[in-house]
Amino acid sequence: MNESRPPPAEGDVNVSPARAEWRASLSDAARAALDEDERYFLRQSLSTPCLAPIVRAEGAVLTDVDGRRIFDFHGNSVHQFGHGHPKVVAAIRREMEALPFCPRRFANAPATALARCLVETAPHGLDKVLFAPSGAAAISMALKLARYATGRHKTLSLWDSFHGANLDAIGVGGEALFRRGLGPMIPGAEHLPPLNLARRFFGDDKPFERFADYIDYALEVQGDVSALIAEPVRWTTVEAPPREFWPRVKDSCRRHGALLIFDEIPSCLARAGTLYACEQFATTPDILVLGKGLGGGIMPLAAVLAAARLDCAPDAALGHYTHEKSPVACAAGLATLEVIEEEKLIDRANTLGQRGLERLQGMQTRYPVIRDVRGLGCYFGVEIGGDDPAGLAERLMYRCLKRGLSFKIGGENVVTLCPPLTIPFEQFDEALSIFEEALCG
Ligand SMILES: Cc1ncc(COP(=O)(O)O)c(C=O)c1O
Repeated sequence: MNESRPPPAEGDVNVSPARAEWRASLSDAARAALDEDERYFLRQSLSTPCLAPIVRAEGAVLTDVDGRRIFDFHGNSVHQFGHGHPKVVAAIRREMEALPFCPRRFANAPATALARCLVETAPHGLDKVLFAPSGAAAISMALKLARYATGRHKTLSLWDSFHGANLDAIGVGGEALFRRGLGPMIPGAEHLPPLNLARRFFGDDKPFERFADYIDYALEVQGDVSALIAEPVRWTTVEAPPREFWPRVKDSCRRHGALLIFDEIPSCLARAGTLYACEQFATTPDILVLGKGLGGGIMPLAAVLAAARLDCAPDAALGHYTHEKSPVACAAGLATLEVIEEEKLIDRANTLGQRGLERLQGMQTRYPVIRDVRGLGCYFGVEIGGDDPAGLAERLMYRCLKRGLSFKIGGENVVTLCPPLTIPFEQFDEALSIFEEALCG
């Protein structure tokens, strides 16, 4: 590679006017740092071009190189208790000094303790655990386990879903962006409509009952599906089905010999207002996949929890990951569960959830561009309407960034707001005021 080759200009990428204006607002130092980033990293959708170079992440606030303070309501959904919680940092430091790594075939206390804690806190019947270094890797293990347990390979999953960006996870996922240009996906991955389009495909009269009937039919007519995998609540659009839906689907899976896998990677661990999101849907899956905040927002850590009867593949390599029992990541996980309990973060998620919903619903009455407001625990989706919903959502994102609030846009036009559960009320209110100001222009 020619060392003197300049980084690709922003013009190489499809840059919107809102993006160009944002970049122009950065200092020379910030722009130079972004150019340096682009010079060395392969570009990829949704990650590049970067927004700004940041130098601190503390609590609910990111600080960029220009000294701009930005409330982090994005955080890749890892930051249940903000960035750098002292208890998690201390646990990581301690474990790094004591046991920085655990080679395969050895046991270690933090890993065993975290596995025990997860089993003890998870809905009854999820008694076995495996850890993985990423959500996508844990999804891979869940899919393999379902194949071994059922002797079948087919899956049912939802169009427009996301379960990670590894090839197998993309195969069961349904987001076009991730599949485009990759050629054939894994065989036997059948797809169903997404939750947010239930009405479009099943009508206004009891759409979810008809959707559940359709799933039952799809499982029956094939007769050889290993698992149905889904998020209990679709995270990008904050779309939750009615409470009766998942129990019916679970029952269909049981009758047709398929397993139910819930992907709670972003929604687990108090974020949804319960420790595990599935508690709100009266459904314990056969396999539950956790991730993101499990590592305290610092360590990469995900987990598969499974019914003990699925411990059926001792001769198979389900994960075989180098960091399959990382003592440091597991120490962070243990500290995470302790912080959730000590700081009563489930209650806090519900209090903030109520406060946020009321505020956002108030905005909905004042700003017709807000088509809908949804929430689950301390997580909110604001669906933008109007003539150009996706364009406006993007403009809102940049307007908010300039004023000090970062968030993610899901499903093209849903502003998703994911604050730390520990955020002080004043900061929470201030961040929502920034959003309201941005709605005004
Ligand atoms: C629902 C869901 N599943 C799986 C994943 C993949 O997790 P990871 O990025 O840790 O591989 C994500 C990440 O955003 C997710 O939101």
